[in-house]
This record gives sequence, C-alpha cells and structure tokens, in this order.
Amino acid sequence: MKEICVELQGEEAMIEYGAYLAKSLSHTHTIYLQGNLGMGKTTLVRGFLQGHGYYGAVKSPTYTLVEPYELPEGQLYHFDLYRLGDPEELEYMGIRDYFDQDSISLIEWPDKGQGYLPAADIIIRIEMIPNGRRVMITANNEQAETTISLLM
Ligand SMILES: Nc1ncnc2c1ncn2[C@@H]1O[C@H](COP(=O)(O)OP(=O)(O)O)[C@@H](O)[C@H]1O
Ligand SMILES: [Mg+2]
Repeated sequence: MKEICVELQGEEAMIEYGAYLAKSLSHTHTIYLQGNLGMGKTTLVRGFLQGHGYYGAVKSPTYTLVEPYELPEGQLYHFDLYRLGDPEELEYMGIRDYFDQDSISLIEWPDKGQGYLPAADIIIRIEMIPNGRRVMITANNEQAETTISLLM
C-alpha cells in the first residue's frame, strides 16, 4: 500500500502542510493522527483548519475530548482522546452523532477509543527527526488510496 512521506522543518511548515492536506483530502471523513505527545498533531490540525479558511484559535480538546468547528464545507471535529479512561465514555457522549456523512473528524490518540470509532480513511503518523518532523500518510481504503496518490 502506498505511503506518502514528507519531512517538515518547523511549526510554520507543519501548518502549511496541514492547509495543503485540507485542500487535497476531499471526500475524507475520518483521519487518525498518530504520534507521541509534542509531535505536532494539533499543529497539523491548526493548518488543516486554516486550509478550510478558519484562522481562529485552536485549543487542544484535552479535557473536553472534542472541539467542533463549523466550516463552510460542513462540520469538522477535532478529537483528542489522550485522557479518555474508558472508550465506553464515548458512547455516553453520543459519539455516533459526530460521524455522519458530511463531517470531517481528525482524531488524536485514536487507539484510546478503539471499538467506538469508525475506521480511518487516512492515517497520519508523525515522528521526530533531527530538524523537525517526518509525516507519513497511509490510506485505509481504495477511495483514500486514490486521494493520497494525488498528493505531492
Ligand atoms: N514540523 C515541525 N518541526 C518542528 N517543530 C514542530 C513541527 N510541528 C510542530 N512542532 C512543534 O511541536 C510542538 C508540539 O506540537 P503539538 O501540535 O501541540 O503536538 P501534539 O498535538 O502532537 O502533542 C509545538 O511546539 C510545535 O511548534
Ligand atoms: Mg495535541
């Protein structure tokens, strides 16, 4: 399976790449963001939101678990499940309503919600390199594979 791999030096490059992804990943509903604390997952989300025309503040939904954004194209949900104790809690917060056809979800720490989240269309992994971060993107279904094959 195809994997896209880019190396990005500095926060600004990360934001720009997030904005580029926002414009390139159409028809993508569920994106998992993997990588340790401090790797730049939230930074990438900030860029993604800018790519959709949202330039306001982006706070980590560390305690609220999810932050909604109303975009011209529809709803975007930014999840951070780092502090989720039991994935069943997602059931109580009505998790299913978040994943309707038109919304986009970017999910940090998806492993913590295993069993209660939809499958990823696209998985983005971020790791540290000496001067920045390496971002690796894989597709999890055929449509997503076509989408990422168009990435540069
Ligand atoms: N490509 C990059 N190169 C260098 N530093 C980066 C890069 N992307 C993000 N950072 C920095 O990493 C730090 C943590 O970012 P954050 O998005 O909060 O990480 P996470 O959400 O993965 O915990 C921030 O200080 C940010 O500026
Ligand atoms: Mg984060």
